[in-house]
Parts: sequence; structure tokens; C-alpha cells
Amino acid sequence: MSKLPAHIRIIDVGPRDGLQNEKQPVPAAVKVELVHRLQAAGLAEIEVTSYVSPKWVPQMADNHEVMAGIQRKPGVRYSVLTPNKRGFNDALPDKPDEIVVFGAASEAFSQKNINCSIAESIERFAPVVEAARAAGIAVRGAMSCTVGCPYEGEIAPEKVGYLAGLMKGIGVQRVDVADTIGVGTPNKVQKAIEATLRHFDIDHVSGHFHDTYGQALANTYAAMEVGVRNFQSSVAGLGGCPYAKGATGNVATEDVVFMLNGLGIETGIDLDKLVDAGKFISDHLGRKPQSLAAVAILNKRAG
Ligand code: HMG
Ligand code: MG
Repeated sequence: MSKLPAHIRIIDVGPRDGLQNEKQPVPAAVKVELVHRLQAAGLAEIEVTSYVSPKWVPQMADNHEVMAGIQRKPGVRYSVLTPNKRGFNDALPDKPDEIVVFGAASEAFSQKNINCSIAESIERFAPVVEAARAAGIAVRGAMSCTVGCPYEGEIAPEKVGYLAGLMKGIGVQRVDVADTIGVGTPNKVQKAIEATLRHFDIDHVSGHFHDTYGQALANTYAAMEVGVRNFQSSVAGLGGCPYAKGATGNVATEDVVFMLNGLGIETGIDLDKLVDAGKFISDHLGRKPQSLAAVAILNKRAG
């Protein structure tokens, strides 16, 4: 059996990926409190918000308010999504540590999500990446639909490699291999990662797995087997993408941390505090956390 990494770094994307699809507006103060609870639980990276059209994603319209409300904890990296120069210019005064450009391995998803082809998206991203790097802001690239697409079905690893190469070519520093609709299984996810590794080294590749078909934890393990040490997950399993109908949230951060604790892999995250953060936002949304580990821990606490 392959040796698993000793440390895993988690980016909690709950405030952004998790909440972007919520129909009822979540007050900025609640989002800020969620970020505070995540950093208090030991998360070193938090994806806070996005600078996209409020007509497309109304829930993220309060990006300035949320970024301004956060009391930053030293050492924590706060990232935001910026699909174009307009979004980057809007984000700049809010001083993100990292911006994320987001493309897709599938043409159809690119059109639905960001209203342009893959090639056009790269043209739009290039000046954003250049400006960010000139301003000393780190750049991540999210790659959607790396195993399956809601419109095109299965996606070949070659398409993932192609997108990763384009991202590398414009100066993106690290990329997320995203299973947007959670259809990936361990072998398919490993192939998507291997295609990405032709362009980025292992420390610059992260796994971003939605849990729609209950495969995300297995996919996380499979990604660790090929050496991946960076993952995105969402507290309380919040989320879904508005342009991927039926797709549910990311793998719950609580479930990932529970598994990693059991494997003796360090994350720097306090599971109890994380469960509290997940309960806080789930209570606000009026539902149980979408995390079996969190629910089990809460039940145990209730005695
Ligand atoms: P567009 O319509 O092609 O752009 O949208 P446009 O340049 O023609 O502008 C149209 C209108 O949008 C104009 O306003 C612009 O000012 C405005 P109007 O004249 O109609 O009033 N606009 C903007 N407003 C605010 N911020 C901006 C911005 N840009 C233009 N940055 C655009 C292109 C990308 C903006 C649009 O398609 C959009 O906002 N899409 C939303 C994409 C999104 O947020 N998707 C969810 C996040 S991605 C995700 O969840 C996947 C991920 O988790 C990985 C995975 O799981 O796969 C990352
Ligand atoms: Mg996502």
C-alpha cells in the first residue's frame, strides 16, 4: 500500500461554495461569524466569497461587507473567486490573500457557469492572473467537471490535462481538481489528478470533491494515495453549484477531519470546534449538518 501524507491542509469553502446556492439570503454577519468560527477551529485557509454577477449568484452580493467584517487571524489565507477583471478590480480593495479563477474541463459547463468557452475563459483569466501576481496576490485555478459534467457526461482525463496546461500557461500557481457533481469514483479521480500532474507538481494540486453520490471521502483517500496533500471541503457539507442542478455540497470538513484523525494524519483542526462551527451555520439554515461525523458527535454530546 502506498504511504499516505503525514499532514493534510484543508481549505474550507463553506462560506463560498457552501452558501452560494442558498435561496434565502444569509446575512453578512452570519457569514462573518462562520469564518471566525472556522479560523478559531484551526482552519488555515478559508474561501470566503466571490466577486461574480449578483444577477447570477445573488447570495455572494455582500462580498465587500463580508470581507470587511472579518477580523483576520495571522497565518490564515483568505481566498475569493474572481472570474474576470471586473471581479478582480472589485476584490482588490478587500485585500484577499489569494484569488481563484474558475474554468471547466467541459465546454458545456464553461458556457453555463461563466458564459464563455474554455478558450475565452483563459483569455479572460490571463489579465486577472497577471494583475494578481503583480499585486503579490496568490492565484489558484479551480477546474470544474474533471470527471463528469451535468451536460456532457463523462469527461476524459485528456480534457483535464488540457485545461491544466492552459492554466499553467497563464501563470496560475496551483489548481483544484473538482468533481463538481460528485460522480467520480476513486480510480477516475486518480486519473484526473494524474492528468493534472503533467503540468503541476503534487504540492500545487488539490482535491475538491462534491459528495452527491457519497463518494467524496473515498475519493479523498484515493487522492491521498497518489500524494495529494491539499483538499477543499465544506463545513457541515454545505453547498452545491447553481449551474450543476442536483449537485450537493462538498464533502463535509468534519467527515474529512474525522477520517484523517483516525489515520493519524495531522490537520491542525480541532474537530470539536469545527463541529460547533457546522452546528452554528446549520442552525441558522434550519437543518442538520450534512455530515455523519458531526451528527454523531452532536448526538453523543446530547447524551
Ligand atoms: P457575462 O454576462 O458573460 O459578463 O457574465 P459580461 O461581461 O457580459 O457582463 C454582464 C453583466 O454582468 C454586466 O452587468 C456586468 O457589469 C456584470 P449588467 O450590465 O447586465 O448590469 N458583471 C459583473 N458583476 C459583478 N461582478 C463581476 C461581473 N462581471 C460582469 N465580476 C460572469 C460573466 C462570469 C460575470 C457571470 O457568468 C457570472 O457571474 N457567473 C457566475 C459564476 C459563479 O459564480 N458560479 C459559481 C461558482 S463556480 C463553482 O461553484 C465551482 C467550483 O466550486 C469548483 C467545482 O465544484 O466545480 C469553484
Ligand atoms: Mg465546488
